[in-house]
Amino acid sequence: MKKVKWLKNDLKIDHAFNYKKIENLVLHLKEVCPEGFDLYFDNVGGDFLESAIFQMKNFGRIVICGRISQMNATNPGSGLKNMAHVLVKRLTIKGFIIFDHEDDREQFETDMAKWLLEDKIKFKETVYEGIENTPKSFIDLLEGKNIGKMLVKI
Ligand SMILES: NC(=O)c1ccc[n+]([C@@H]2O[C@H](COP(=O)([O-])OP(=O)(O)OC[C@H]3O[C@@H](n4cnc5c(N)ncnc54)[C@H](OP(=O)(O)O)[C@@H]3O)[C@@H](O)[C@H]2O)c1
Repeated sequence: MKKVKWLKNDLKIDHAFNYKKIENLVLHLKEVCPEGFDLYFDNVGGDFLESAIFQMKNFGRIVICGRISQMNATNPGSGLKNMAHVLVKRLTIKGFIIFDHEDDREQFETDMAKWLLEDKIKFKETVYEGIENTPKSFIDLLEGKNIGKMLVKI
C-alpha cells in the first residue's frame, strides 16, 4: 500500500501497517513490539486503544488526542474491557486538546516555518481542484484515498 511504503521508505518509521488488513491487532502489536510501549498517542480510540493498553509497559503513558474510529459509530459499544491493565500496570491516561496550547502557537509557527524551509519536516497533501469537487473530496477522505491532508483548491 502506498501510504505504508511512504511511511517506511521516506519517513523511515520503524513499523507501519494497513489497519484495514490486520485481523488481530493485539497479536500484531505484540509481534512488532514484544517489549511493549512506553507511550501511546491515540488518534483512533475503540479497539485500537484497547489493543494498545494490552501492550503497554508498567507506568506507561497514553495521550488521548482523537477517536476517529468512533466518530460515525452508531453504537457507542460497552467501553474499554481491559481497565484492569490500567490499574495493574499503573498507566497514566491524559486527554489532549490543542486549544490548551494557544500560548505556544507563535513559537510553533516560527519553528515550523523554519523547519519546512530547511526540509526537516516532510509532508504530503492531496489537492482536488474546484469547489464542485468538495463532495467527492469528502467521500474520498472517508474512504482513505488521500495521502496527508485533503484539500480543495478554489
Ligand atoms: N485533540 C485535538 O486537539 C485534536 C485536534 C484536531 C484533530 N484531532 C484528532 O486527531 C486525529 C487526526 O486528525 P487529522 O486531522 O490528522 O485527520 P486525517 O487527516 O483525516 O487523518 C485521519 C487518519 O486516521 C486514519 N483512520 C481513519 N479511520 C481509522 C480507523 N477506524 N482505524 C484506524 N485509523 C483510522 C486514517 O487512515 P486512512 O486515511 O488510511 O483511512 C488517517 O490516517 C483525529 O482523530 C481528529 O479527530 C484532535
